[in-house]
Amino acid sequence: MSGMEQMLVENRVFNPPKAFAKQAAITSMDQYKAMCKAFDKDFNGTWARLAKENLFWKKPFTKVLDESKAPFYKWFEDGLTNASYNCIDRNIKNGMAKKTAIIFEADGGEVSKVTYQELHDRVATFANGLKKLGIKKGDRVVIYMSMSIEGVVAMQACARIGATHSVVFGGFSAKSLQERIVDVGAVALITADQQLRGGKALPLKTIADEALDLGGCEKLKHVIVYKRTGGDVPMKAGRDKWMHDVSAGQPKVCEPEWVSAEHPLFVLYTSGSTGKPKGVQHSTGGYLLWAMLTMKWTFDLRDSDVFWCTADIGWITGHSYVAYGPLACGGTQIVFEGVPTYPNAGRFWEMIQRHKVSIFYTAPTAIRSLIKASDTDPAVHPKKYNLKSLRLLGSVGEPINPEAWMWYHKNIGGEKCPIVDTFWQTETGGHMITPLPGATPLVPGSCTLPLPGIMAAIVDETGGDMPNGQGGILVVKRPWPSMIRNIWGDPERFKKSYFPEELGGTLYLAGDGAIRNKKTAYFTITGRIDDVLNVSGHRMGTMEIESSLVANPIVAEAAVVGRPDDMTGEAIVAFVVLKGKRPTGDEAKKIATDLRNWVGKEIGPIAKPKEIRFGDNLPKTRSGKIMRRLLRVLAKGEEITQDTSTLENPAILEQLKHAI
Ligand code: PRX
Repeated sequence: MSGMEQMLVENRVFNPPKAFAKQAAITSMDQYKAMCKAFDKDFNGTWARLAKENLFWKKPFTKVLDESKAPFYKWFEDGLTNASYNCIDRNIKNGMAKKTAIIFEADGGEVSKVTYQELHDRVATFANGLKKLGIKKGDRVVIYMSMSIEGVVAMQACARIGATHSVVFGGFSAKSLQERIVDVGAVALITADQQLRGGKALPLKTIADEALDLGGCEKLKHVIVYKRTGGDVPMKAGRDKWMHDVSAGQPKVCEPEWVSAEHPLFVLYTSGSTGKPKGVQHSTGGYLLWAMLTMKWTFDLRDSDVFWCTADIGWITGHSYVAYGPLACGGTQIVFEGVPTYPNAGRFWEMIQRHKVSIFYTAPTAIRSLIKASDTDPAVHPKKYNLKSLRLLGSVGEPINPEAWMWYHKNIGGEKCPIVDTFWQTETGGHMITPLPGATPLVPGSCTLPLPGIMAAIVDETGGDMPNGQGGILVVKRPWPSMIRNIWGDPERFKKSYFPEELGGTLYLAGDGAIRNKKTAYFTITGRIDDVLNVSGHRMGTMEIESSLVANPIVAEAAVVGRPDDMTGEAIVAFVVLKGKRPTGDEAKKIATDLRNWVGKEIGPIAKPKEIRFGDNLPKTRSGKIMRRLLRVLAKGEEITQDTSTLENPAILEQLKHAI
């Protein structure tokens, strides 16, 4: 049975532990239903109440939801607020100046901590330094840093002065970084000399220099460099400055820039079904409101918790559940620089023990790789560690297969911690469909039910509702505060991608397929319905990889598909036609390696195909369309049983059947 089939017939149920339910923010399904009902009865009024209760407003909003320019929805627009004030100053005013905000553990194991007051001072001085450089409200700042307190400081400082940040994951290449700098029109880049991962120093600043040398970044006037390792990096006079010099001598008071709730807090690039990544634009007020509410509802965060989300700040999970959500709720959290397998595969468990982590949130890929590691090396098995501090576990980024769920439940959660399998996306800003740990009976492999206020549904190709038990297209029927506001600079693409006319123009199209259980109405996500792959929880567009392959001078044509993979969820398989003769044997192996490295250079190591096969051509219809569904079958190593009558060149299938 495939993982997906198994998910659909899964019938084990795990009720919330009584002790957990008793203390939880949401303690029962009745309470959940009442919250949903409140939205049904008074949608705007309920959101307004939550926004007033949870956020600090310098000037209260008078309008809740503005639908006049739908699908360009606006929330709380005439309210003035500031994300950094809500995340830091407000907690200090509430007596938490001395509370630990961040426990940072470096790759090599060194631990440092900052209190809310210290975080405030670092953010304020850096924000003042940015202002002194002339960076102001509305400017865009790209952040290309690894996991660090300084990374969070950089994001918070931008938010404080109203500059819109765009964080680029440190694993992206110079070219990917340059494309994002150009697209977002950044005036400054904040980076680090090097980043440390698994004992290796990676040259962030050098890659940043390469990116800027590619040209087109004329708007960019400042490169600010966090000295992480002290490694030797060239600094360009006039343009490059050390982060500590920018902050040095600056006052610890920095009045926040009070911005409209609709002011773009950040733009985060993600892959779509065309070649060019999309700059997902998020708001300030609505975004932060949902980051807070989901911290409270899904993670049940309380004062005494030690929260650890392992995601990098380069992804949306690291935005909502590292840089903003935990701080906005006054939580204590872990920020980890390294990788789960260094110095050994017990690192996560050792850190949970060391820091007494109570809420742990990670990706199924990490869980699967650590299961494998602990099977082969008993020394890093979780039972070697004291994990008793844990009270709640979370999963994000891709479907979690029931075996991995059960292992997580048993070995990490000691059969007492609920697991929240959170379905959401870069575009949604925060969790959408997820269990509530004190209320929802859990079924392994199902993200269960939508959060209150989220009108998720499953429809057919024309937007008509599907009955439970029948798969279809996942949509959201009403706007919500943390939804994507626009694709940076491309409103037409925003409308077409997320509110397509075929579905009537008002339904938010998630891009995933889903099915609801006939009895429980629980959702199971069945995977993307577009040309987007999910590799180790990272979103990759097949077209993006194809364009990078054909940009290589020896490549004539390329088609990229996904193949199910036990470890990474999906693996990238590329079918390539060279301009010259089709290579075989060792030559094919060598060219495949070169092309993999090429993609690594063009996009980043995460986009490297796992496998490349060469053909004289690709399977095409008579009109020249590549038949990807056949390639998917070949990539899996299965026999083609589908109709191939529209195929122009059936002989090609034989050639592409086998790995090189
Ligand atoms: O396909 C879904 C999958 O990840 C996609 C979103 O990717 P991204 O924007 O990079 O955000 C990842 C972190 C939120 C979705 O369209 N996905 C995410 N969470 C789950 C999931 N699939 C199944 N179950 C999940 N819990």
